[in-house]
Order: sequence, then structure tokens, then C-alpha cells
Amino acid sequence: MLAAYATAPNPSDPLAALEVGERPEPEVPDGWTTVSVRAASINYHDLWTLRGVGLAPDRYPMILGNDASGLDADGREVVVHSVIASLDWTGDETLDPKRTLLSELHPGTFGERVAVPARNVLPKPAELSHVDAACLSTAWLTAYRMLFVKAGVRPGGSILVQGASGGVATALIALGAATGYRVWVTGRTEEKRRAALAPGAHAGVEPGARLPGRVDAVMETVGEATWAHSLKALEPGGRLVVCGATSGPNPPADLSRVFFRQLSVVGSTMGTRAELEALIRLLVTTGLRPAVDTTLPLERAAEGLAKMAAGDTAGKIVLTLD
Ligand SMILES: NC(=O)c1ccc[n+]([C@@H]2O[C@H](COP(=O)([O-])OP(=O)(O)OC[C@H]3O[C@@H](n4cnc5c(N)ncnc54)[C@H](OP(=O)(O)O)[C@@H]3O)[C@@H](O)[C@H]2O)c1
Repeated sequence: MLAAYATAPNPSDPLAALEVGERPEPEVPDGWTTVSVRAASINYHDLWTLRGVGLAPDRYPMILGNDASGLDADGREVVVHSVIASLDWTGDETLDPKRTLLSELHPGTFGERVAVPARNVLPKPAELSHVDAACLSTAWLTAYRMLFVKAGVRPGGSILVQGASGGVATALIALGAATGYRVWVTGRTEEKRRAALAPGAHAGVEPGARLPGRVDAVMETVGEATWAHSLKALEPGGRLVVCGATSGPNPPADLSRVFFRQLSVVGSTMGTRAELEALIRLLVTTGLRPAVDTTLPLERAAEGLAKMAAGDTAGKIVLTLD
């Protein structure tokens, strides 16, 4: 089958590790099922895989892709939940120490077909297109958990989103604005800051710039480049929720600010199947839809990944299959 895959880890030139070509059909263990992929969105995770972050060298070649929307073996429209927990795991899948995401241990979603545990497919409501649904199970689910499960701030409270145009950032802005949070963002260009107003950001500032006031919670995906600003932005007792470190994992700790202001730093990763179900219901009932920057056929996956690597994003980049 046709697939987009990482041939080998390439830390300095990740796009050179990308190949689009024939790969074997996925193996389908007992209790697993096959989904014919109609749409799959690109996440920063795919760039990490091309670079060799998070994957042992002997796992290559690896089909990329965490998210998919498609058809199950009976032709029903389904959304794939990317968090694969151990067979005997019950409860919050993200807390299983052996959990893995598609494209880490098992082939990912950038192929004509993907095998997943039967419990990892959810019905796709007719209200959502395959393109919309393909954006949900990583960026939007991560944003949902950061904001509604981890931040501890009720609607009416205030958040700062570091980054304006990325997949997780645009999901945070849209979810926060739609549910009654005051949302400020930082964006690296004037164009990105302006674009963030459309999904509902109330103001956008340059990275590191003074905000109109302090916030109850900061949503971090950037890491080193924005961490000090994130700590400064918080109200006493505020919470920094972090799910990623695109610019580097070793930010200045600034511990005195953490203890004097009694700040909390909370990690967040992906989300549970139940949270994905709730997110899908939220989209159906509110009419909210993911901001989609570009859709490209799978064959042009390199263009989408190059856009993301260059920081040239305006929401999600989605690959489609006939
Ligand atoms: N733990 C999890 O479960 C989980 C899930 C999803 C994502 N993540 C992580 O979250 C991060 C974002 O993922 P994504 O898919 O949303 O990526 P993306 O679409 O490429 O978005 C990147 C975002 O980072 C911002 N950014 C600001 N300063 C940056 C800098 N110096 N270098 C690079 N980016 C900078 C960008 O801001 P501008 O708008 O100003 O360009 C943009 O909003 C990645 O590190 C990813 O691994 C983690």
C-alpha cells in the first residue's frame, strides 16, 4: 500500500528521511481492526520521528502519522484514537507506562490502511468531515485535556497560549474562546497574531512582550523560548500546563518565581478515549471546527511537513486519500 514513512532517523535534515512509496499491509493482531484512511493530519510528532526523537533506530522504517479518520472494515465512518494502551490496562490510557502512540511502535496513519486496537476506533459523526475529524485525536485532544482537565480554570478565567498558528495552539484558542475563557496569545509574526483573532483570541502580542495583565493559566508547547515569559505571565497561584518543548526541553527554572508566587507546573499528554468522545460531542453541539491551513494528497506529504518545519502554519495540515 502507499504510505509516507521515515526511512531512518535524521536529526539534521529530517525531511531527507521522508519517503512516499509502497509499504507492506499492516499486520492485524487479535482484537485489532483495520481502518481505511481517508484523511490524516500532520503533527509535530511526525517531525520528531523523522529526526529520530522518541523512536529507537531499529524501529525504522516507520509509517508516520498519529491521527486518522476513515472507514472501518464494515464501511462505517470512524475516528482513530492514537493512544495505544496495554491490552490489560483499564482507566486513563495516558497514564499507562507502556502506552504508545501510533507511529512509535506500530505503523502510523499516513498510509492507505492502518491497524489499531478495536477499542481505539470511535464513530465519526456525519456532522464532521473526514478532514475535520482527522485533526482531533492529537492536537485537539491534547488542547482539550490541557484546558479542561489540567488547567483548573473555569470558563470566565484567563489563559495565555504560547504560539498562535500551530495545531495545538489554534485548538486551544478556539476551545478557550468558544467556552468563555479570555484568551491571549503570543505569535511570532504580525500576520499570525492577527490570524489568531479569527478563532477567538482576545489579543495577540509578540513573544515575550508585556501582556495587558496576568493570567490564571498558561498553555505551553514551545518550551525554552517562551518559558520565562510563561512564568512571569501567571497570577499568584497560577498554573503552567505544558505538553511540549518545540524550541528545547531545558528552560530556565526560575524557581524563586515558582515558590514565591506559588505557581504550579503541570504536564499533560494527549487524552483519553472518553475525552476524545467528549471533544467530538463538543464540536457537534457548538459547531466549532478545526482551523485547517492546507489539505494535500498523501503523495505530497513532504510539502506539508516542510511547511511545519519552517513554522509556516495557520492551523492543521491534513493529508487526504481517495
Ligand atoms: N504531549 C503531547 O501529547 C503533545 C501533543 C501534541 C503536541 N505536542 C507538542 O506540542 C508542540 C506543538 O505541536 P504542534 O503539532 O501544534 O506543532 P505546530 O503546529 O508546528 O505548532 C508549533 C507552535 O509552536 C510555536 N512556536 C513559538 N516559538 C517557537 C519556536 N521558537 N520554535 C518553534 N515553534 C515555536 C509556533 O508559534 P507561532 O504561531 O508564533 O509560529 C506554533 O504555534 C510540539 O513540540 C509537539 O511535540 C505534544
